[in-house]
Amino acid sequence: MNLLITGGAGFIGSNFIRTILAKYPEDSVMNLDLLTYAGNLENLKEIENNSRYKFVKGDITDRSLVDSLMKDTGAVVHFAAETHVDRSVLDSGNFVRSNILGTYTLLESARQHGGKRFHHVSTDEVFGVVEGKPFDENTPYNPRSPYSASKAASDHLVRAYFHTFNLPITISNCANNYGPYCFPEKLIPLAITNLIEGKKVPVYGDGLQVRDWLHVIDHCSAIDTILRKGKIGETYCVGVRKQLPNIEIVRLILKALGKDESFIEFVKDRPGHDRHYAIDPSRVERELGWKSAIAFEEGIAQTVKWYVENAEWWRKVKSGEYREYYERQYGHR
Ligand code: NAD
Ligand code: DAU
Repeated sequence: MNLLITGGAGFIGSNFIRTILAKYPEDSVMNLDLLTYAGNLENLKEIENNSRYKFVKGDITDRSLVDSLMKDTGAVVHFAAETHVDRSVLDSGNFVRSNILGTYTLLESARQHGGKRFHHVSTDEVFGVVEGKPFDENTPYNPRSPYSASKAASDHLVRAYFHTFNLPITISNCANNYGPYCFPEKLIPLAITNLIEGKKVPVYGDGLQVRDWLHVIDHCSAIDTILRKGKIGETYCVGVRKQLPNIEIVRLILKALGKDESFIEFVKDRPGHDRHYAIDPSRVERELGWKSAIAFEEGIAQTVKWYVENAEWWRKVKSGEYREYYERQYGHR
């Protein structure tokens, strides 16, 4: 397959590109990424000279650029987005632009180039807060942050292009990812890197909010399975049934790095903070035979080790813009 990957210089997209190039010797990848603060070509150093890989710096809202790439594309896997909830609280404009207008631009181009196969990577946050049973494909949408509202809007557009124009789409709604190359604004890499630097970990509110944690490599294998075997027009929820309160995650990381609880700092809660996410992945398991491969205990230990061994990567990322962001986000809390 000749894939157009959007947002391939980010956390999940870069892991996905490495996965595809290693697994499918016949596939080639075009990576379209704007290189926002979250995009980093160092995530793709090992494959930058691969003859089956090409990088194009650009914006998914740029229709003529998207059209020029769409011509030679077999399928689109769409990761590009603004992704951090806290940033969407500070300023939601880019979330509306990239996540909604960007998705629309790609869909329209895919439609006008003969109806390209289109996989949309989305999030469980579109469902809001778990009430009773975990989220599945029939859970009603109830987004509660500007980020999740923009992702919900993009999901609706993708589904509308299937129903109205027969665009061959699939959607995945995934739980929280962790693993190598995650930008250190998200809880797990922020906790690990702060602790290595001798700083405290900011824990929002009472720390009892629950997330369902999935290793990024398992997410990539699920997307690959859905892309190749998924039913057109269908949505698949992806997770591994590993629910943990934030404070427990932080305690695990403290332990792995030999730190005590004095490194926890409870801070003012996130506005509109969703209390609980959890995914029921039964459909993707049952209908497509997808299975996760990485147990949480093993994955988190490997992740801590990766950040310890790759300090050069995150120390560069944690300079400049990041320092200003950290001050804006945490300075007053
Ligand atoms: P990320 O923030 O690490 O990377 C996003 C990438 O998109 C960056 O490389 C950035 O430069 C690029 N980008 C942003 N706006 C762009 C634009 N207008 N044009 C071109 N490129 C642009 O994100 P991630 O964590 O890798 O998430 C990837 C996708 O997966 C997103 O759609 C996100 O909503 C979804 N998702 C993430 C998680 C998670 O836990 N991280 C969970 C479920 C779903
Ligand atoms: O569920 C999927 C979503 O997971 C993705 O769609 C998002 O792109 C991704 O950012 C993530 O969203 P969360 O808001 O759940 O992830 P985050 O790492 O920001 O926060 C995880 C939990 O930890 C959440 O309850 C807030 C809390 N938290 C986070 C940070 C950054 C803290 O207590 N302290 C922090 O400093």
